[in-house]
Amino acid sequence: MKIARTVAEVRALLDGEVGLVPTMGALHDGHLSLIRAARAENELVVASLFVNAAQFGEQSDLDAYPRDEAADAKLAEATGVDVLFAPSAAEMYPQDFGTWVGVDDTGSEGEARPGHFRGVATVCLKLFTIVRPQRAYFGQKDAQQVAVVRRLVRDLNLELEVRVLPTVRDADGLALSSRNARLSAEERARALSLPRALADGAAAYRNGGDAVAAARAALNGLTPEYVDVLHVDGATLLAAAARVGDTRLIDNVLLEGELR
Ligand code: PAJ
Repeated sequence: MKIARTVAEVRALLDGEVGLVPTMGALHDGHLSLIRAARAENELVVASLFVNAAQFGEQSDLDAYPRDEAADAKLAEATGVDVLFAPSAAEMYPQDFGTWVGVDDTGSEGEARPGHFRGVATVCLKLFTIVRPQRAYFGQKDAQQVAVVRRLVRDLNLELEVRVLPTVRDADGLALSSRNARLSAEERARALSLPRALADGAAAYRNGGDAVAAARAALNGLTPEYVDVLHVDGATLLAAAARVGDTRLIDNVLLEGELR
């Protein structure tokens, strides 16, 4: 595996059909499932490792974001990444940077995090034009992000396929997230109410009931930022966000259709 730090370095390594897996590092099995899918479907697999300050609201969240490039590089290499693109902030956002991708209608998640999807869309567009992949891989865990990226690709006529992989969970049901590392044992136990409430919501929906009301009722003391039904490319999802201590967690489950 090669590590590229600059746009010129990564471009010099591109060859054949490229699959791109954008990440902010602290790699876990959710990220690795995207890398495996990219490995199976492309000649060259590029993973990016960049903690994108532009998509963070609170400075404290950015500061606390877990970073371990050496461990990430090992995992990426072992999972089949050919090129790890790990640029500096100055490489991605030089001092005179001033072009941003604005995104309309970003749902409850966008409302809860003003400016977040502008940062996501901008960095994704940059990564797409730097790496020029045939396919880019995203996780269903961030379903509103998938909606934003699919829209970006459609609206700006980008020539790539957006592939979506199912949410990878711990055995007890908690969705894997780089932010889980920040949960204490007690917080982690409380966090389980999020996937359980979503499962209850989905069960109620299957029985003709109100998914949002059922999920809210099952949150077991967690205060949600929102519980909402999302429509992404023909799929219907029940999505929620909640803070557990200082850590903000999001999760979703499918109600109808599939997100691929
Ligand atoms: P990050 O949170 O590192 O996630 C990178 C990719 O991994 C995203 O597509 C995300 O949906 C996926 N992912 C995270 N947890 C997952 C899980 N449990 N199961 C399956 N996939 C999972 O999302 C971002 O970074 C950034 O916003 C980024 C797209 C890199 C732009 O900066």
